[in-house]
Amino acid sequence: MQNNLITWYQQNHRDFPWRQNEDPYRIWISEIMLQQTTTEAVIPYFERFIQTFPNIIQLANASLEEVYKLWEGLGYYRRAKYIHMTAQIIVNQYNGIFPQTYQEILSLKGIGPYTAGAICSIAYHQATPAIDGNVLRIMSRIYLLKENIALNKTQKKITELVQDLLIGYDSSAFNQGLMDLGATICRPLHPRCEKCPINTFCKAYKHNQQMVLPINIKNIKHQEIHYITGIITYQNQFLLIKNPTGLLENLYGMIQYDIESPYRFIEEFEQQYQIPISIVSHIADIKHVFTHRTWQMHVYHFVLNEPIKGLFTLDEITDLPISTAHLKVLKAYLKTK
Ligand code: ADE
Repeated sequence: MQNNLITWYQQNHRDFPWRQNEDPYRIWISEIMLQQTTTEAVIPYFERFIQTFPNIIQLANASLEEVYKLWEGLGYYRRAKYIHMTAQIIVNQYNGIFPQTYQEILSLKGIGPYTAGAICSIAYHQATPAIDGNVLRIMSRIYLLKENIALNKTQKKITELVQDLLIGYDSSAFNQGLMDLGATICRPLHPRCEKCPINTFCKAYKHNQQMVLPINIKNIKHQEIHYITGIITYQNQFLLIKNPTGLLENLYGMIQYDIESPYRFIEEFEQQYQIPISIVSHIADIKHVFTHRTWQMHVYHFVLNEPIKGLFTLDEITDLPISTAHLKVLKAYLKTK
């Protein structure tokens, strides 16, 4: 597969000005410009930029205004600011010589894993993956990966896969081959599988899944839920329930309803348990953040007029598994006592 892709790249690669040589400075500038901007849009900007600042020293000596001026229309102006800052750091800390290790390059402002990987492979032929959306899509299809590529876990797996594929091959041609394949053949909506140099290795093509993959389900919207959370006591005991399902399955916690008033809480509780409660006081408003959810808990103290199943003393509670969210609630209550 690697040989097919590399040979295809050598014979068919697109002719871009940043592909004229392997100067890391030019490759860096091109990769930054190519973030969030199409190749056609970048070409004239790249040429003007390199003409004005042929090397990193000239860039470092320019004013930020001059850099901004050349960037005008490209968008994402923070990229221009970071380029200018990084050029000055390279001149001051690296004697004007572009650093040559992945870790050093990654540590520079405005350079993430993708850009560091692209520079190291294209300029220095180091076996560093450069994983962007194109590569995630191509790898999902080649290996029929049905995992969501929006997840870090999947991206990590694909990074390791590409790392292995690079060993023993020209990483510059391989990585740029993936870029060109993603742009011209293995496109998101209309892949040209019959023209693909690696279609005999592609499991998605074999099983006709290229129009389904990759799975790319963006992070589910972070939900914020408001609860009235009840500290319900009977003498020196607390009412706790065990969550039968959901986020905190099998953990103990207070009763809470996603309603907007503690008076509604009384109605809900009495309907569910057929036992009256009275409201005593507002305790606290507590926020708890989960991965995909935030709870805003408006905590109130209620008292039972008669005992009920599920009452625990503080000592007994110490031995129960309780969610962190509801431990915060309990602590807030105890602080008021
Ligand atoms: N997109 C991002 N980097 C690229 C490169 N070096 N060549 C072509 N397209 C790209």
